[in-house]
Amino acid sequence: MVLSVVYLGLLLLSGLCRGQEFSYEGSLGESDREVRYSTFIDNDALRNEINLVFAGPSHWGDEYHTCIGKHQSPINIEEHNVKNVSLQPLRLIGIDNPCQSYVTNTGHTVMLKTNESKAAMLSGGPLENNIYVFEQLHFHWGQNDYEGSEDLINNHSFPMEMHAVFYKEDYKSMDEALKHEDGLAILAYLYEISPQPNPMYEPIVKLLPDIEAMGKGKVLQEPLLLETILVPDIANMQDYFTYNGSLTTPPCLEVATWIDFKDHQELSREQLSAFRDLRNPQGNKLTHNFRPVQPLEDRVVLHNIPQEHSTPSNISEDHHFDGHSGQRSVKVPILFVALGALVAIFLFAM
Ligand SMILES: *[C@@H]1O[C@H](CO)[C@@H](O)[C@H](O)[C@H]1NC(C)=O
Ligand SMILES: *[C@@H]1O[C@H](CO)[C@@H](O)[C@H](O)[C@H]1NC(C)=O
Ligand SMILES: *[C@@H]1O[C@H](CO)[C@@H](O)[C@H](O)[C@H]1NC(C)=O
Ligand SMILES: *[C@@H]1O[C@H](CO)[C@@H](O)[C@H](O)[C@H]1NC(C)=O
Ligand SMILES: *[C@@H]1O[C@H](CO)[C@@H](O)[C@H](O)[C@H]1NC(C)=O
Ligand SMILES: [Zn+2]
Repeated sequence: MVLSVVYLGLLLLSGLCRGQEFSYEGSLGESDREVRYSTFIDNDALRNEINLVFAGPSHWGDEYHTCIGKHQSPINIEEHNVKNVSLQPLRLIGIDNPCQSYVTNTGHTVMLKTNESKAAMLSGGPLENNIYVFEQLHFHWGQNDYEGSEDLINNHSFPMEMHAVFYKEDYKSMDEALKHEDGLAILAYLYEISPQPNPMYEPIVKLLPDIEAMGKGKVLQEPLLLETILVPDIANMQDYFTYNGSLTTPPCLEVATWIDFKDHQELSREQLSAFRDLRNPQGNKLTHNFRPVQPLEDRVVLHNIPQEHSTPSNISEDHHFDGHSGQRSVKVPILFVALGALVAIFLFAM
């Protein structure tokens, strides 16, 4: 009894500690945490485990206060609770020239950037006449075929979700755009399992084994036609949900107009499982990298009802790609690690 009080106290104390970077571990609740505490006695392992657990999604807000904001992503979209609207056509521009693409394992996801002076652009729909410039696309997945997407539809999770990130042209760069509430537009694509591999994703899936370690990157063998990935089916492009939200990774800035297509993309089991072999910053398999859903609060989700077809056209302008938002890292105090080890030994002895 006394011990569990001490133990609880330590848990609270540990809330003050900051994890290195961020992780997707430790989101399984209190029992998961206890298991981790009592099974790792070895100091290094203990330190790592504690670090990871306290860097998990439910602790992102400890270090990144914007992660506990009121307009966070992802969310659960309840179809019976959306507002039907008819916005001007959503337009993707400059996606019909093959471009050299670079794929990297960031430790948190697989990210694809294009090496193109004529960047792809997004406009229309909820963005109205503002132009957004393509920055990168990346994926979120889960440890099995029943979860992995970030946004849910009617509480349903999909095995994978792709995000195509665009920044507002007026802000000139990704870094500057992150400082404004209308800075980003993100296209979200949901996936289902299909018996056949999806040939459009084969070039990416095939190079995943070469970028297993965090930080590794590789140029796609063939130039990529963004159109095949961003507009797999033009007929369904205007059927989407849209809402105002945030980045789904720290610092969780509330700067994104989300556009979630209703149409689902397909990927085979084997294609999907190749993503789970990538390694995270600790060198473990990155089996899952989705953030749990956040409260909708006062937001309204719009459902665009398609009116007419629109065709992508093209614009040419020069753009450069900038780096990403920085990540901070803080060490776990040694005192805490020592206390944790002590408690673990105590519990084990009982
Ligand atoms: C919104 O549109 C959907 C699909 O077109 C339709 O099923 C639904 O009844 C509409 N909702 C309202 C409130 O009009
Ligand atoms: C981008 O393309 C240019 C010209 O083809 C090349 O010199 C450069 O190395 C490429 N960069 C990457 C990251 O592939
Ligand atoms: C989703 O889950 C919530 C909470 O459990 C529930 O209130 C809601 O009715 C569910 N929505 C659907 C469409 O099943
Ligand atoms: C999103 O925020 C903008 C202001 O930044 C507002 O004009 C727009 O109506 C909001 N969209 C929704 C769906 O609430
Ligand atoms: C768009 O590209 C096509 C070729 O892909 C070209 O024929 C057409 O003139 C371009 N349109 C504009 C507006 O630049
Ligand atoms: Zn994402």
